[in-house]
Amino acid sequence: MTTYHIPVLLHESIEGLNIRPDGVYVDVTFGGGGHSQEILNRLQGGKLVAFDQDQDAIENKIDHPGFIFCNGNFRFLKNFLKYNGITQINGLLADLGVSSHHFDTVERGFTFQGDSPLDMRMNPLANLTASEILNQYSEEHLKYIFRDYGEVENAHRLASMIVFKRESKAFSTSSQFIEAIRPCIPRGAENKYLAKVYQALRIEVNRELESLKSMLTQCLQVMSPGGRLVVITYHSLEDRLVKNFIRCGNFEGKVEKDFFGNVIAPFKALHSKVIVPSDGELDINSRARSAKLRIAEKVS
Ligand SMILES: C[S@@+](CC[C@H](N)C(=O)[O-])C[C@H]1O[C@@H](n2cnc3c(N)ncnc32)[C@H](O)[C@@H]1O
Repeated sequence: MTTYHIPVLLHESIEGLNIRPDGVYVDVTFGGGGHSQEILNRLQGGKLVAFDQDQDAIENKIDHPGFIFCNGNFRFLKNFLKYNGITQINGLLADLGVSSHHFDTVERGFTFQGDSPLDMRMNPLANLTASEILNQYSEEHLKYIFRDYGEVENAHRLASMIVFKRESKAFSTSSQFIEAIRPCIPRGAENKYLAKVYQALRIEVNRELESLKSMLTQCLQVMSPGGRLVVITYHSLEDRLVKNFIRCGNFEGKVEKDFFGNVIAPFKALHSKVIVPSDGELDINSRARSAKLRIAEKVS
């Protein structure tokens, strides 16, 4: 049996939340519940609201009087909190992306190893799949997602190859897709190239950047002064959004100043550099290798 997920930067992220035993916390990416369990261990009279849009995560729900679970997208943060009578929180943790469970469950289509369906939905009830994108998006749209979400060097060539190959047969499995785009894949760098292609598709299927922006905006509205925002990202697009939001309160990184020339920022970053996993953690869990942790405190 495989482990559902090994929590990444566990100690550093939980310390970053600076938990008060009677506080209200949110884990927007529950997964296997590793981070949630550590938060609950520190609560006494407090609450933890956890979100996960994947129904497989329900099996990991934790039996604790302060635990509330939402099987939904974290872009509904404020609505779900309000539904539970919560208007203010003391901290929020986001450990973004997919879990090991997703990669290890071949039928979900997150891995290009082996033969899998072109799916990649974190929420299996959502409409859009990777196969719909590959079979229906225009060449221009495909080029945009491969370039902007995957930083694929030959995005244009890849998009036109996909449009050409799907004319004769619609894509339905990973091996069929990879064979069709083989001429675009640089020799000797297959895994690196396919990782970028798959990242782009996954971000589009799950509307990852839109959900992240919406959740961060709502987080600002419900976070108490002194409350902590703790975010672990796994690729530069997410990290840039989080960094800009913490520094400037917007996603573009536009610095706004008050009358006296002070930067107006709703959060104060607690570290000048991102926190990354130690060599010891990477020895145990190689999937943590691209993780970056940012911790910030709500100013007022
Ligand atoms: C990296 S895993 C989190 C692992 C977790 N911290 C643990 O220790 O087990 C990310 C989880 O967040 C969920 N997720 C990602 N984006 C989401 C979103 N927009 N709304 C709700 N859940 C999301 C995924 O389904 C996945 O289970």
